[in-house]
Amino acid sequence: MTAFLSLREALERGQVRSASPDPASPTGWRVNPWVKQGILLGFRLGTLEEMPAGGPTFPVGTLVYVDKHTYPARHFTADDGIRLVPGGSSVRAGAYLARSVVCMPPMYVNAGAYIDEGTMVDSHALVGSCAQIGKRVHLSAAAQIGGVLEPVNASPVVIEDDVLVGGNCGVYEGAIVRKGAVLAAGTILTRGTPVFNLVNGEVLRATDELPLIIPENAVVVPGSRAVTKGKGQAWGLSLYAAVIVKYRDDKTSLSTTLEDLLR
Ligand SMILES: CC(C)(COP(=O)(O)OP(=O)(O)OC[C@H]1O[C@@H](n2cnc3c(N)ncnc32)[C@H](O)[C@@H]1OP(=O)(O)O)[C@@H](O)C(=O)NCCC(=O)NCCS
Repeated sequence: MTAFLSLREALERGQVRSASPDPASPTGWRVNPWVKQGILLGFRLGTLEEMPAGGPTFPVGTLVYVDKHTYPARHFTADDGIRLVPGGSSVRAGAYLARSVVCMPPMYVNAGAYIDEGTMVDSHALVGSCAQIGKRVHLSAAAQIGGVLEPVNASPVVIEDDVLVGGNCGVYEGAIVRKGAVLAAGTILTRGTPVFNLVNGEVLRATDELPLIIPENAVVVPGSRAVTKGKGQAWGLSLYAAVIVKYRDDKTSLSTTLEDLLR
């Protein structure tokens, strides 16, 4: 238990991470399986305990949460320099939030997640377990960043610096979104999602060795592709596809600029 609590504290300080930048790795990221193993151990060591909500909204006794005692909600103070706007958000123990992160309610950050400076986590956004979110990222309303705890050597979802994840996007199964990329509202990325690059004519896919990787500064929008065989063709069906329509330009930067005053 002592070792787990030390690991949890180190995670919350950002001193250890479930995945770290590594230029020598083909994905640019190195998974740290021992960290993920430690996070899983915390679930095994935990016993169910009641966690009264308390506070003026829910006076003690009116609302009680029940969870593993090893993963309570994190408590922040003004000295942490994080804005946690009132109203239904929760950051679980073992998650790291850098100074200047803004959390709009309701949002949820799970254990092992890492969120770097200047990032905005908007309402209804989820940052799943072990997800790695870079600097100045905007996770827009209802963006879902999937968690990857098991298997322990599987890479978590990584959103690099200066990415815009539009409203209602979903990024799952260890996808990596490189620096400066823009996911238009409603884009979904999984291991099985083909990404059609209209700029260079390539089709990007995950492989057995590599997750789906969205290139730096790519602007990805939700699209569809015609089914060209069998019943799908006869029925005139289309399947979902993600499409790179261009690379970030001045117009994109204008469309994605956040109101600094709101921060
Ligand atoms: C992607 C986005 C930033 C626009 O970027 P942009 O660089 O200004 O894009 P452009 O207008 O130059 O569009 C480039 C091409 O992509 C298409 N496109 C742009 N946004 C699209 C979208 N969301 N869905 C489908 N196609 C889209 C355009 O039609 C254009 O194609 P065309 O030349 O064939 O007409 C914007 O559409 C977007 O999704 N913003 C995020 C909104 C959001 O979620 N806000 C958060 C609120 S909390």
